Amino acid sequence: MRTIEWHNGIVTTIDQTKLPQKEVILKIKNLSEMAEAIKNMRVRGAPLIGASAAYGLALTAFYSKVSNREAFIKELKASEKILKSTRPTAVNLFWAIDRILNKVKNSNKNLEETKQIVIQEAQSIADEDVQTNLAMGKHGAALIYDGDVILTHCNAGALATVDYGTALGVIRTAWKQGKKIKVIATETRPLLQGARLTTYELKRDGIPVKLITDNMAGFLIQKGMINKVIVGADRIVQDAIINKIGTFSLAVIANEYEVPFYVAAPKSTFDLSKKFREITIEERKHNEVTHFRSLPVAPPGVDVFNPAFDITPYKYISGIICEDGVFFKKDFDTFGKNPFSNKK
Ligand code: MRU
Repeated sequence: MRTIEWHNGIVTTIDQTKLPQKEVILKIKNLSEMAEAIKNMRVRGAPLIGASAAYGLALTAFYSKVSNREAFIKELKASEKILKSTRPTAVNLFWAIDRILNKVKNSNKNLEETKQIVIQEAQSIADEDVQTNLAMGKHGAALIYDGDVILTHCNAGALATVDYGTALGVIRTAWKQGKKIKVIATETRPLLQGARLTTYELKRDGIPVKLITDNMAGFLIQKGMINKVIVGADRIVQDAIINKIGTFSLAVIANEYEVPFYVAAPKSTFDLSKKFREITIEERKHNEVTHFRSLPVAPPGVDVFNPAFDITPYKYISGIICEDGVFFKKDFDTFGKNPFSNKK
């Protein structure tokens, strides 16, 4: 199930705000439609946000009418500014945009060739994401045993990536290997990515999944009903991982009951020059908490706090799965240096 595709100046993707009731296909034809889709979470999940931003620049290139390279670079910079102001936390968005702009900067080509560089680099970012997830799936599946019951939070599946998924990619690979696993999905308030998207994906694949509300997870862990927790990440910094709100409390409880807590994320999610205090945690609109779609679930005018992500320090994490292999506790203190140098 490929979540995003480029066909000759049109980006096709599914509107995730409408799932699971309706499968609405979006045809995005310009930069502002792409920025709107990212901001309003029609596309979401760190790797998919990265690929979407890349395709946003590709749209700028495809429809550009300027007559020289300098003017085109100015257009790209304007698009960069718009895209980078959509969502602040997932680093993949910034990584993808910077990767394309650096490629352009380091090339010395004419206008038409420069436009092609942008479009081709966006395609490479999207295509590589699929291969990355397959590799991550293989490394992560080695940590999963026959009979495991795995708890996951939010949606780190095909819908959060270009295809296959990070945490769900690991689960998919273990399932394909014939391991008889079961998944517990937390609903993930306030936007219900777990209830709406994770169960939708796993049901399509025939992988057994049970849905719980967020506040049930601690009870299940305490009762010994969970063997492993696997989640994705929006940013991995020197001293913590940052992921969907609710991840931190799951990690603390899993740790208390010695349930392994794994994070699956591609290298494009690593931002190892930073520490968590330097990262902006996105705060979203109050109506996401006071309403579900247009249905009010709180009295009018109630005050609200709506942070979209939280911070989980390494002491609670058993391992981080990426496309190069798995980092365990002993590796985390290499994160200020070059952790990938001897992974392969
Ligand atoms: O706000 P969202 O839905 O974009 O948040 C998504 C998550 O937090 C995911 O867990 C994360 O991006 C990893 S997805 C492979």
